[in-house]
This record gives sequence, structure tokens and C-alpha cells, in this order.
Amino acid sequence: MDLVVKGRCYYEGNLAQLCIGIEDGRISRIATNLDGDTVHDYGSRLILPAAIDSHVHMRDPGATHKEDFATGSLAALHGGVTCVLDMPNTDPPTITPDALKEKTVTAASKSVVDFGLFAGVQPGVDIEGLAAGAVGFKLYMAGTMGDLLVPSLGSVEAELRAIAASGKVLAAHAEDECLRRKDPESGLEDHLRNRGNDCETSAVRKLRELRIEGLRTHVCHVSAMDTLPLLSNGGRMTTEVTPHHLLLDKDSKLGAFAKVNPPLRKREDRQALFKALKEGRFDTMASDHAPHTVEEKEEDFDYAPCGMPGVETMVPIMLQLVRERHLALSSLVSRLCERPGELFGIPKGRIGRGYDADLMVVDLTVSTDIKADRLHSKCAWTPYDGLSAIFPKVVFLRGEVMTEDGSLVGERAGRDVVDIAAAR
Ligand code: DOR
Ligand code: ZN
Ligand code: ZN
Repeated sequence: MDLVVKGRCYYEGNLAQLCIGIEDGRISRIATNLDGDTVHDYGSRLILPAAIDSHVHMRDPGATHKEDFATGSLAALHGGVTCVLDMPNTDPPTITPDALKEKTVTAASKSVVDFGLFAGVQPGVDIEGLAAGAVGFKLYMAGTMGDLLVPSLGSVEAELRAIAASGKVLAAHAEDECLRRKDPESGLEDHLRNRGNDCETSAVRKLRELRIEGLRTHVCHVSAMDTLPLLSNGGRMTTEVTPHHLLLDKDSKLGAFAKVNPPLRKREDRQALFKALKEGRFDTMASDHAPHTVEEKEEDFDYAPCGMPGVETMVPIMLQLVRERHLALSSLVSRLCERPGELFGIPKGRIGRGYDADLMVVDLTVSTDIKADRLHSKCAWTPYDGLSAIFPKVVFLRGEVMTEDGSLVGERAGRDVVDIAAAR
């Protein structure tokens, strides 16, 4: 055995004092006692699978003044995320096989975590060509950042059929462009009025009514309480929730820094989402890490761009909620690790034989306050400044220690998860 990691491991839904045997970066054995060339003994600390953040915007290429794969992936790693799935609304957008290849080369040369790339859906795009290299497809049903709006599902019916045939997931930004108002905005209330709950429910209904055999639809960032009843449809659609829609609402004092699509809604919405999370009604949690610079966010509210960073703070905030018993550990591991791995076909997110040895060591008794200047995103701010959180002590990527006590120590380069999956 190359390497053995010992501690209180999250294994098959329980915590148990175990040894994880690792060979060639993968978990090869799990047992009470194992010998290895190198042994890391973490005593009674928790060993959890590292997280997969299945919704991030690394801004690379095109807006690398906000973020790039180097800074964004470093932020991910320090937050216990060893795999990020990047969205296609970059410049150029990821809608041709060439753009996808180029982004893959960029990510492989800069990222310190593994990555998958979404391709964008537009009328006439080469779905087959894109499916070979993309981790999934992304459909924007309303105008937001970037130029990938598809206002009518009818205009991409052939493309959706081709996506169904490819077996890849269709992730949807579900807001209905027809119901979106474009009145001037001076604050979060106005932003919510322009993108009311009906905007989301109408889009989700349209997705639900799509009759495309075999299409695997994933609803991104569910934000409205009225959407919840629409999701109990026999498991045909899967769903994502974000930390900001669970923790923040329109009464936030952050102004344009909290301007995001879909918008922050009422307190009742946020509470309903949290209850649904506890009941296991979401498949995944993802950060929708969407960094913009402080200068951009300080523009007049109406002109400020939408989105907020979150890839580094998601796991630490959720671990704090586990510590405070607001959330079960199993719920966190399921939404942040296991389900994203299953949905997107990535052999990560589980302490089990054959999975990549992507792990985090956590001490649930040690919380620290989130501080923007200790985070790694290029955008250099966070909506969660001052909040208590539990940052992982150690993060492993494919069997290598990458961060220890908040410092980068590993040298692994990020790999494309589509390649990783294909090699199995
Ligand atoms: O607020 C948002 N920001 N919503 C999106 O759909 C896109 C994202 C971004 O790319 O900034
Ligand atoms: Zn979105
Ligand atoms: Zn997004």
C-alpha cells in the first residue's frame, strides 16, 4: 500500500475509526488496520470525502480580471472542494468543440483541482462534438450574465434530443424570460420584483412538461418556495440548491453585492428551502461561485453585475451548520459529494474502493471567522464576512496532500473528470 490515511472515516453512511488504503491516487482498501509506506494518522478527526462543486464560474477565458482557473481552483481547494464543474458563459462561450478544447487546455495548465466543463446549449450547436468532452450541458432560459439566453425550448428541441441521446445531464438556469420584468432597480427588493417567484415556477413547469425521452434535466439553484411542490414528480428531474439561497434573503444589507440570479427572495422562501434540504429533497448543493470585482459591484445597483463568490466558503459554512446541529453530516456528504459524483459520472465524492482518494480532514471543534482577506478568489470579497465556519485541516487530491492548515503544499495538477471517468 502506497499510503494509509487513518481517522474517523465517513464510510457507508456512518463514522468509524478506519484506515483508508490508497494506491495510484485511488482508494484500494478500507479496513480497521492497514500498513502502508506512508501513514497519516489523524486520530479522532473526521475524514470525509472532499466535495464536488458542480456549479462554478471561473471566468476563464474572457474575464480573468474577476477570476481564473488558478485563483478559482485554489479557492476551491482551501474550501475542501477538489473538483469543480465550470459553466459555459465565458468569453468566448463554451459552445463549440474548439472553444471547449481550448478551455480544457487552459484549465489543465492552471487548475489545482480536477475539473469538468459544461457546454452551452444554443440553436445549431454541435451537441455530439461537444458531448465528447463536456461534463454536461447548460441551458439559460432567461437573460443573466453572458449571451447564452434561449428564450424558447422549442428552438432547441433537436439539440435537447441530441443531449438526451448523449446521456449527459442538461443543467438549467430556470427563470422564464417571458415573465421577467425589466424595470429600473435600486435595491434587492426591485431585483426580486423583476424576477418574481412565478418567473422560476413557470420555467420549471416548462422543463417538467418537456417530453424528450431519456433527457436528464437538472434544475440549478432552486430559490422559490413555490418551486418545491413542482419537484416531486417521480424523480424525473434532479435539483440543486445554493448556500446563498439558504442563508441570505432580500433583506440583506449587502446591496448590489447580494444581487444574483435567481434573486435572493423572502425569508419564508429561504426557510422553506432549508426545510426541504433537511428533508433530502435536493440532490446537490453547489456554490454557483460567480465572482465579480468590488469595483464592478460598487456600480449603481441597476448596472452592477449579478453573482457572488462561494466556492471556498460553502463546505466550511455547512460544516459549521453540522457542528451546530442544524444539518446532519449525512445530508452534507450526500449533497456535496456523493450525489454530484453519481449525477455527473465522476468517480469521486465517496470513501469507497475504486474512488479517487479525494479527502478532507475536519476538526468539528475548531471554528474560525470567515475573513475576505484570508480567501483565495481573485474577487477578494465574500458575502459571508465574519460568519463562523470550519475550514478543512487537510485536503487530499488523488492521494496527495494539497493543503495543510490553510497552506498549499501539494503539486498535483488538475485533470479533466471526463478523462478520469473514461479511463475507468
Ligand atoms: O447571478 C448570476 N451570476 N446568475 C447567473 O446565472 C450567472 C452568474 C454569473 O455568471 O455571474
Ligand atoms: Zn444560473
Ligand atoms: Zn451560475
